[in-house]
Amino acid sequence: MASMIKFQCICLAVLFALGAMTNQAMSRRLPDASISEKHKQWMARYGRVYKDQEEERQRLKIFKDNVEYIESSNRAANKPYKLGVNEFADLTNEEFKLRNKFKSHSRLSTTRSSFKYENVADVPPIMDWRMEGAVTPVKNQEQCGCCWAFSAVASMEGIVQLKTGNLISLSEQELVDCDTNGGDHGCNGGLMDNAFKFIKQNQGLTTEANYPYQGTQGSCNTSAAANPAATITGYEDVPANNETALLMAVANQPVSVAIDAGGSDFQFYSSGVFTGACGTNLDHGVTAVGYGVDINDGTNYWLVKNSWGTGWGEEGYIRMQRYIDAPEGLCGIAMEASYPTA
Ligand SMILES: *[C@@H]1O[C@H](CO)[C@@H](O)[C@H](O)[C@H]1NC(C)=O
Ligand SMILES: *[C@@H]1O[C@H](CO)[C@@H](O)[C@H](O)[C@H]1NC(C)=O
Repeated sequence: MASMIKFQCICLAVLFALGAMTNQAMSRRLPDASISEKHKQWMARYGRVYKDQEEERQRLKIFKDNVEYIESSNRAANKPYKLGVNEFADLTNEEFKLRNKFKSHSRLSTTRSSFKYENVADVPPIMDWRMEGAVTPVKNQEQCGCCWAFSAVASMEGIVQLKTGNLISLSEQELVDCDTNGGDHGCNGGLMDNAFKFIKQNQGLTTEANYPYQGTQGSCNTSAAANPAATITGYEDVPANNETALLMAVANQPVSVAIDAGGSDFQFYSSGVFTGACGTNLDHGVTAVGYGVDINDGTNYWLVKNSWGTGWGEEGYIRMQRYIDAPEGLCGIAMEASYPTA
């Protein structure tokens, strides 16, 4: 019973950073550059073009405020994570959140689904599904609010690899274009559980190569969709607000999770174990692909694959603090977790 929350997802501007230097390298290279030179270099790096001088002046001011915020946050002694001047650096946090149009509906049903990992005894102390070959390279949803499709596909890629031994990159675009009758809305939001239902009904999903990502919604290519490369038998919801239950699931396969990704520190997250601040206004779908303990300070974390390219976070991933006082988990990570079955 998916609660009917739609994750329109924070969109990304087009990433022109392939092979570009890291944020850290960029700031090292520019120790004395004035803020407007920094902004110009940043614009070139991310291919940002403003419509006129006035807009450039406004964006420069926002960029400056953000750089100051990032630098002061990075000096704060009590923050174990670092922020970086990434491609969201000319957006106010309000604008960043607006990309993330949250739609909430009342719960369809309050019945609990079965949870096959309920009584798992053997949970390893650390897990990284990348090391097991169950995670494809980080993808980029760009300016389309379809994180729900990326989240669902990543957890499906995981279970398919675990069942068949084959890691196959699967098509988010098929979900964006074709999964339109079950409550999902392409670039305007959707739910991972609805995506799993569609995939089951459609008898699978085709490959990324056969139905490549476009970053916009188009009409369904039925011939590509009629050529599935892998399938699932359904999905289960992880019992809500229970990080122990989530651990049991993630110990066994990559799991789709919803989080509140609207905060400034999430916007500029660059490295380390993220400890907030964030709320529980779920607006983004991502995939938990492991968990561990930070070697420097012993903080427990979830390893989370995002869909904002490799320029954000730790090469596209974020480590989020695990086992906080609130049962919802950090940024609500334990509220709406689910996984496909195969
Ligand atoms: C539909 O997908 C097939 C690949 O299966 C491709 O050859 C064809 O060009 C696509 N059609 C459209 C209209 O994009
Ligand atoms: C959390 O989940 C675990 C594993 O399913 C279960 O044993 C435990 O009772 C749950 N805790 C609560 C408070 O529901």
